[in-house]
Amino acid sequence: PLRTLKYKNGDEQPAIGLGTWKSGKGEVTKAVEIALNNGYRHIDCAATYGNENEVGEAFEKVFGEGEINREEVWITSKLWNDSHKKEDVIPALKKTLKDLKLDYLDLYLIHWPVAFKKGVGFPESDDEYYSLEEVPIIETWEAMVEAKKQGLVKHIGVSNFSIKKLKDLMSKTNEKPEALQVELHPYLHQNELLEFCSKNGINVTAYSPLGSGDRADAMKAKDEPSLLENPTIVKIAKKHGASAGQVLINWAVQRGTAVIPKSTNKGRIIENLASSGYQLDKEDLAEIDKLDEHFRYVTGEFFVTDGNSYSNIYDE
Ligand code: A2P
Repeated sequence: PLRTLKYKNGDEQPAIGLGTWKSGKGEVTKAVEIALNNGYRHIDCAATYGNENEVGEAFEKVFGEGEINREEVWITSKLWNDSHKKEDVIPALKKTLKDLKLDYLDLYLIHWPVAFKKGVGFPESDDEYYSLEEVPIIETWEAMVEAKKQGLVKHIGVSNFSIKKLKDLMSKTNEKPEALQVELHPYLHQNELLEFCSKNGINVTAYSPLGSGDRADAMKAKDEPSLLENPTIVKIAKKHGASAGQVLINWAVQRGTAVIPKSTNKGRIIENLASSGYQLDKEDLAEIDKLDEHFRYVTGEFFVTDGNSYSNIYDE
């Protein structure tokens, strides 16, 4: 059986999900179909990935065929930064539901702790310094709570939040975030954050588990390290007769997080779901502990501008 993360009402989020960030419109429908038809029961989406309509075509087809019910699949999406105002949250969610061709989400996340002016995708030029907006996070959160009350989403949470931002949000609201999605992999363990979430009953999902090597070049640091080619990971993979990708995914599952490797390749989609059939042993884990360099592939530096109240998006 698939490992799952449990929610207070008994709902279960399968530990391994399919990521769709960077999946092209022309290939993502097929990827999601392949995933669902090969045992995936968790798909991770976001409005800003620009492909929710195409992901939705797969949902329509697969659920329409009747072999898999909507209720059997955990579907996550995320609120983009330009829709943080209270009057914008539910309309943005409804657009996502329309694109995904669903009538509810299992989990809706505030994608980043940063608000942009309506219609802004990414701040790219100086002009767009002025695209930042000060919307108190509690205002956005209360609209998320309302979306849950209305039955549009079953669970609500946040993404790319530090402990400091989680604490701040939790101090202002009675309804805690149920889930957090952040970057996590052997170069970025974030043990303190995991411990905080565990104490507070917040389920964690790991993004960029394979190092997101298909990011646009403009997003990459010079000479960024490869996870899939890391000699320690490759050695551990050989030892267990697994692939490097499978070791990275299994490591995330063994830590008790959910993990959302992206692939549009049939062989790798299937391979990734089959990652957790063995235990990484103490020795493996000790070697992987040594890889923690606090290195991020997703720096979020495009959000740190003069008009922004953050000097560092992660409060580090
Ligand atoms: P592809 O879509 O061609 O399979 P992340 O999930 O960290 O964002 O990483 C996604 C990247 O890793 C994509 O380039 C994806 O390519 C590749 N990838 C996915 N699964 C595997 C795997 N099992 N082995 C090697 N590369 C993989």
